[in-house]
Amino acid sequence: MKRRTRTAEIESPDPSSNTNLTPAILKRFRKALQAWYTEHGRELPWRLTHDPYRIWISEIMLQQTTVVAVIPYFERFLTRFPTIHELAAAEETEVLRYWEGLGYYSRARNIHKAAQHVSSKLSGTFPELVDELQDLPGIGRYTAGAIRSFAFNLPAPIVEANTLRLYCRLLGYDADPRARAGQDALWSFAEELVPGDHPGRFNQALMELGSIVCTPTNPNCPSCPVSFACQAFLTSRQREIPRAAVRPEITAVTELSVVLRRGDRFLLYHRAPGERWAGLWDFPRFACDELTAAPKRQPAWIENKLSQDLGVQVKVDELLTEIRHSVTRYRITLRSFLADHESGEISEAAGEYRWLTVDEIHTYPLSVTGRKLAKLLPEAIADAKRGGHPLPKSGQLFRK
Ligand code: ADE
Repeated sequence: MKRRTRTAEIESPDPSSNTNLTPAILKRFRKALQAWYTEHGRELPWRLTHDPYRIWISEIMLQQTTVVAVIPYFERFLTRFPTIHELAAAEETEVLRYWEGLGYYSRARNIHKAAQHVSSKLSGTFPELVDELQDLPGIGRYTAGAIRSFAFNLPAPIVEANTLRLYCRLLGYDADPRARAGQDALWSFAEELVPGDHPGRFNQALMELGSIVCTPTNPNCPSCPVSFACQAFLTSRQREIPRAAVRPEITAVTELSVVLRRGDRFLLYHRAPGERWAGLWDFPRFACDELTAAPKRQPAWIENKLSQDLGVQVKVDELLTEIRHSVTRYRITLRSFLADHESGEISEAAGEYRWLTVDEIHTYPLSVTGRKLAKLLPEAIADAKRGGHPLPKSGQLFRK
């Protein structure tokens, strides 16, 4: 059933339009939005430039990551790789080191590949066309529209998390906006909305409004400059729209890792393509079945596992630490053990492993939990030199 609108401002829709908004309202909407952005838009580092390289890096970083978290990464990354050529010439390992902590590392690997392509095949010049931009690794429809509009000031529609929410509320779109039909409707609306005049600034303003006024849980409708055009507001449905995404069920799992010491070196391995955190380095880490979920069995299980998989004999000393973290739908408890190498060399078939000093580890890109463990190493070394252990010796730890 259609709900009635609260004001008469929403006139009968233009039949040629795919929205409820008339051309007159759209015109008023654009003007009100731009005036609001002039007053309230934040001065963010990537908004002070039209350089497509910088805009591209910022947009990739901003996928899945907040503005506040991105700013220091963005500045560090561009200080180290000020041009696309310098990024293209770098080793992937170093690019990952500068990405470390941002997560979703395929973004960094794609950035590196795309930089190499633009640097060598396109003389460092970014394409202006959405289709050509989308041919680059890691650039989807949104990012292509963002680069085209922000860097080249050419019209292109954008739909990302903030604008998706804003458009749904404006349109009163209460079906699933992530489904095919929803995506089609929102992209058509975005296409219709973006003006020929200052499209880049307009798109930034749309995102800004979504980000700071039309927020997910408590939209600040009283201070919204375009509430006059918002179907959700006019029908009091702004809390129901957009429809919430179906959340996957969370599964709790235990994983084990081993900080294996050999003199002043520790064993790390290079995560292989296709694996979680591919390209990063990590301490050896294993999924844990029901049997090994019992803490008492874990030291012996690790000793066996390293003997079988890597061909080395080790002695597990103690539990170094326990770290809880989440990856996609898994809530992981990572139990990390300190162990000493006793004999044997890592078999080549096991993958890429290296014995590294603490200083070397500092220069390698690590998983977040790998870095947490690496920070504990100086203490573990100092302790070994003193001949003591920070925790009870193996065995004692597990007795009640
Ligand atoms: N989120 C994605 N792109 C953004 C941008 N350019 N400014 C602010 N937030 C964003």
